Amino acid sequence: MSTETVNTFHDAETVLRNPDLAQSLYDEGAVIMADTLLVLHGEQHKTRLKQEMRVFRRNFLRYYESEVFPRTLAETLEPFEALGHADLMELGYLATLNLSADFAGIDRMERNTEESSRLLKLVKVFAEGATLVHSTRDKDVVRSEVRDALKEFEGSFLKDSIARRKGLIAKHRAGKISEDDLPRDILTELLSSDPAQQLPPEVLTREIAFFLQAGAHSTGNATSHAFHDLTEWAKAHPEDGARYLPDPIFLQHCVHEALRLHPASPVSWRRPVCPVDLPDGRTATPDRQVEIDLWAANRDPEIFGADADVFNPHRKLPDGVNAFGLTFGTGFHSCLGRDLDGGAIPTEKSTPKTHRLGIVTLFVQALLQRGARPDPDQPPEPASHTARPNWGVYPILFGSK
Ligand code: HEM
Repeated sequence: MSTETVNTFHDAETVLRNPDLAQSLYDEGAVIMADTLLVLHGEQHKTRLKQEMRVFRRNFLRYYESEVFPRTLAETLEPFEALGHADLMELGYLATLNLSADFAGIDRMERNTEESSRLLKLVKVFAEGATLVHSTRDKDVVRSEVRDALKEFEGSFLKDSIARRKGLIAKHRAGKISEDDLPRDILTELLSSDPAQQLPPEVLTREIAFFLQAGAHSTGNATSHAFHDLTEWAKAHPEDGARYLPDPIFLQHCVHEALRLHPASPVSWRRPVCPVDLPDGRTATPDRQVEIDLWAANRDPEIFGADADVFNPHRKLPDGVNAFGLTFGTGFHSCLGRDLDGGAIPTEKSTPKTHRLGIVTLFVQALLQRGARPDPDQPPEPASHTARPNWGVYPILFGSK
C-alpha cells in the first residue's frame, strides 16, 4: 500500500486529530491488538474509552504517584542497589511491570520474584507482538509465541484476577462493601460494565494483555532514554546536573525534553475511512496509508528551534506546545497513560511540594538519588530485536564513585 507521509509538527497534530483517519499501525500485531482500545474506531472506540476512563476518578493519579508507585519503586530498587549494579532495561521493566499490572488489574497472588519473572516474560512477548510491525524477527514465530503466552497468561494470572473482582463487584452491588473497596483498575471497570457492554473473553484477554505491555514497555524505554540524555547533558553542563535533585520541576522538564526526542514509536499510521484532505493540500484515499512521522515532527525546527535534533532543556517553546512534543500522541487515540507517566504540566504557580512529577521523572529521580551512573566498563547497547531505536542493555552502577 502506498503511503502519504506527514512530518511537520502542526500537520502531524492536525492529522492525528482527524476523526476520519483510523488506527493502522497495529494491523500486523492483530494476534494481541485486535479489538483493543488502541485499534478501535469511531463509536466503538468512544464506548470503550468511556468505560476505561472511569479508572481515573477521585484523585487516582495523585494516589498512584504518591502512595503506590514510590513503594513499588523502592522495593524494586533495593536489591539492585545492595548489589551495586543493574541492567537499567531489566530494572525498568521490573519496576514498571508492577505499575502496569496494578493499572490493568492483574493480581500477583504470591508476590515473589519467581512470580514477577513469569509475568515479566509474558509481558515482553506481548510487547513484541504489539510492535510486530517493527520486529526484525520472523513474524509468524513471534505470533505463535504470543498465542502461547496469552494462553499461559489466562491460566496463571487473568482467571484468578477476574474471579476476585467479580466477587468484589457482587458484594458491592449487594451493598456489603463500598465503591472505595473495589480495586481501581481497567479490569474492574470492564467487568463492572452493563451486561450489553461486556467484552467477549478473548477480547478481554487481549485488552488486558495490551494494557500490561503498553504501560511497562513504553515507561521502561522512556526511563532509559531519559537517564541517558540527562547523564550526558550533566557531563557537559555540570551546573544543570547539580540542579536535578534540588529542583524536581527542572528535572521533570529535562525528562520531558528527553521524551520529545524518543517517542515510543517513531511513527503513527492511519488509514482514511473516506477521502481525507491533508493539511498541505494532498488528498488521502482509503487505499493509502497515512504515516505521521512523530520522530520528525518532534524535531521540527519551526517549533523547537535550529537545535531541535539535540537535547537542550533550555530551549524556548511556542505557547501551547508541550516540552514532550507529540510523544504521547494527540487526538482521540492520545495516550491514556500520559498524565500518569508524564505528570502534570508545570505552570508558573507550580511548587515542588504539590506538583505531580509523573512516573518517569520519579523513576529517574530515584536512580539519581542512589548515585546511579552508566557503567564505564560496559557501554549500553542498542536493542537488536526491533527496528525501534531503543536500548537493549544499559549497565549502570549505584553508590558514590
Ligand atoms: C512514556 C511512556 C509512554 C509513551 C511514550 C506512550 C505513547 C503513546 C502514544 C504515542 C499513543 C498513541 C498512539 C497512536 O496515536 O497511534 C499511546 C496510546 C495509548 N497509551 Fe501510551 N504511552 C506511554 C505510557 C503509557 C502507560 C503507562 C499506559 C497505561 C498505563 C499507556 C496506555 C495507553 C493506551 C491505553 C493508549 C491507547 C489510547 C487510545 O487509543 O484511545 N501508555 N501511548
